[in-house]
Amino acid sequence: MKTGRADAVDAYFESLFIEPDAVMDRVTAETARAGLPAIAVSPAQGKFLMILAAAIGARRILEIGALGGYSTIWLARALPAGGRVVTLDIDPASVATVRRNASEAGFADRIDVVEGPAAASLEAMIAAETLPFDFIFIDADKNNYPAYLGQSLRLARPGALIVADNVVRDGKVADAQSGDAMVEGVRAYLDQARRAPRLVTTALQTLGVKGYDGFAISLVR
Ligand code: DHB
Ligand code: MG
Repeated sequence: MKTGRADAVDAYFESLFIEPDAVMDRVTAETARAGLPAIAVSPAQGKFLMILAAAIGARRILEIGALGGYSTIWLARALPAGGRVVTLDIDPASVATVRRNASEAGFADRIDVVEGPAAASLEAMIAAETLPFDFIFIDADKNNYPAYLGQSLRLARPGALIVADNVVRDGKVADAQSGDAMVEGVRAYLDQARRAPRLVTTALQTLGVKGYDGFAISLVR
């Protein structure tokens, strides 16, 4: 999909709402230097996540899929003193990059990076009866989104928000016959969210510097 005008609008919105941000510039540069792909959320989307988390007064945030820590640090900026982001990633290069970026951003004490397959890390948190989370951002391997939603429901407090990234994927999500495991994972996630009695869910399309994609947003009752 051509997003030229949408890119121009994103650039305009960034000029309005995104201050010069040496911290995030360094995170993006370090993410590239570590050989990680440039698939973090956009600046406007990062700030959107921060606003959502701050609006509900989130003190405990869980992120599934850390990449280089870009969205992690946006979310950490939403926290009051003493708040925490726990972020999970399977990739040791990712974990090392996030730890370094969190430390350089001055958030080492607010960001816990847990290395390993997210499903196992989530299961361990459930078994340990970890304090519930106020905000959960799901942004890891799309085929496992349904499993992550089930586990998130066991880790979220009533009133929590669960946000899932990449639920549109250039429009492919609308294709029931896709055969793409990522698309099927997202479709199963959306269906599961729709059926979960504790969730009130919607989804929004996004267009801009990160192409054509979208977020699903669920309120936990
Ligand atoms: C992919 C993953 C993401 O989380 C994203 O935001 C964009 C792309 C991917 O795996 O292709
Ligand atoms: Mg994503």
